[in-house]
Amino acid sequence: MNDDTPDSMQELADVLQDVRRHLLWQEETAGRSLLVDAKVAAELQQQRAAASSVRTMIARTKAPEPAAAPTPPRPPVESPSRDTLHAAMKQPLGAPRPLATTPPPAAAPRAPMAAATPPPSAPRAAPAPAMLLDVPPSAPRHNGALPGVVEGERPTLDQVRRELGDCRRCKLCSGRKNIVFGSGNPRADLVFVGEGPGENEDLQGVPFVGAAGDLLTKMIGAMGFTRNDVYIANVVKCRPPGNRNPEPDEIAACEPFLRSQLLAIQPKVIVALGKFAAQTLLRDTTPITRMRGQWREYEGIQLMPTFHPAYLLRNSAEKRNAWADLQQVMKLFGKHPGSSA
Ligand code: URA
Repeated sequence: MNDDTPDSMQELADVLQDVRRHLLWQEETAGRSLLVDAKVAAELQQQRAAASSVRTMIARTKAPEPAAAPTPPRPPVESPSRDTLHAAMKQPLGAPRPLATTPPPAAAPRAPMAAATPPPSAPRAAPAPAMLLDVPPSAPRHNGALPGVVEGERPTLDQVRRELGDCRRCKLCSGRKNIVFGSGNPRADLVFVGEGPGENEDLQGVPFVGAAGDLLTKMIGAMGFTRNDVYIANVVKCRPPGNRNPEPDEIAACEPFLRSQLLAIQPKVIVALGKFAAQTLLRDTTPITRMRGQWREYEGIQLMPTFHPAYLLRNSAEKRNAWADLQQVMKLFGKHPGSSA
């Protein structure tokens, strides 16, 4: 087969486009690909090699031949077929590697929270590994899991919000009235993460403003903070219809933005409210009833899983346990709890 025909060049260009689109898609949606293990890394390397070899071929077929010098015969090029590339690209990336599951010692508190304290200049969260795409060195590079984040840099919340835009990445966009991005102090030392907006939040574009929000506001107050001291966000930013649970594809589409928000804020402590927040951030399917009250670690940040306020509204006997969890958080900030919420 003659690889220099216009048809084959076009086909190669098409394949390259497919590869780039696929890698961009991975970058946009597959936050988990950041936690690549060796096998996944090898698969990604293969995909990059395939893309690179296609690009090389296209460059060769497009390069002008020198006019005078006789051209040595070109060695035959190993041309991956479209089918081979597609098959390679469709290989599963494998399950995400779970983060450390042993609770960090709660006896190592960071400095007490001070809302006005500027964040450390060096990001606490480790920068993500180099991304998958070959892009010109001058172009900013995304780090793959974190939309709006240039590799090695700490984003601002505004950048993350801009990247989210008028999001259409999952089906929740069709029913929402407002995206509920998050609210509070962008430099908070304490972040609360809920599940997803309900009806009131959807109407106002602000998290936790309904009945569960009232309880959360009380919990925050009982801890000695105000809503303006802390930051409040959700796993999904758009209301699931009828307040149903968010579905895995919706969480997968939105989770990278939550991770970017946390990278931007770099709090000292995260309180994960309910199973969706705790299981998503920790990549751990342990039930919330067993996870709650145990210090965990998210990207070097202390994380306390506890019950969701909406659950507490339905199960008030559990408020005592939730309060015990929050008291542990208070201790970390050097605050001295009373005996009840
Ligand atoms: N429940 C949540 O998880 N988040 C909100 O913003 C409101 C209710």
